[in-house]
Amino acid sequence: MTEPAKPAPAPKTISFTLNGRPRVAVIEGWEKILDVLREDLNLTGTKHGCDDYTCGACTIVMDGDARKACVFPAAKLEGATVLTIEGLRRPDGSLHPIQRALIEAGAVQCGFCIPGIVMELYALFTKTPDASDEQLRAALAKHYCRCTGYEAIYEGAKLAQRYMKEEAAAN
Ligand code: FES
Ligand code: FES
Repeated sequence: MTEPAKPAPAPKTISFTLNGRPRVAVIEGWEKILDVLREDLNLTGTKHGCDDYTCGACTIVMDGDARKACVFPAAKLEGATVLTIEGLRRPDGSLHPIQRALIEAGAVQCGFCIPGIVMELYALFTKTPDASDEQLRAALAKHYCRCTGYEAIYEGAKLAQRYMKEEAAAN
């Protein structure tokens, strides 16, 4: 005998910090964090790929850690501090050093995987500026890229690490 379908949770208002600003959202049903970002808040820089915790395209930074937004229920946003690719935009419109490094290394082709990789590297280098090659490769292994092969992405990530360190030293 099949179990009766579980009733969807009632709509709920949540408050969180998104890209440095307080936000309130009403979440409905079984929404995931990715749904809130892309559908409710129109932040489409975070990509919707496999929907299955595999490709890494939906990666955001939540409370300092890289997280796959397709997995977590939207209710987890309550009280959280979230950074998406849109939040890396500099006040003067210039690219973040991680984005610059990936472009310079030829790691960006169609670009679909790039926002997730940028957020993964941002979390890694913010927490661990001297991340080892092993740590770097382990972080990149969470992401699929259909276009580039992975060496250019690895080279771009090494360059990004250098740029972030130089920027930290200059400030
Ligand atoms: S869309 Fe989330 S891991 Fe692929
Ligand atoms: S650049 Fe196209 S999927 Fe990575």
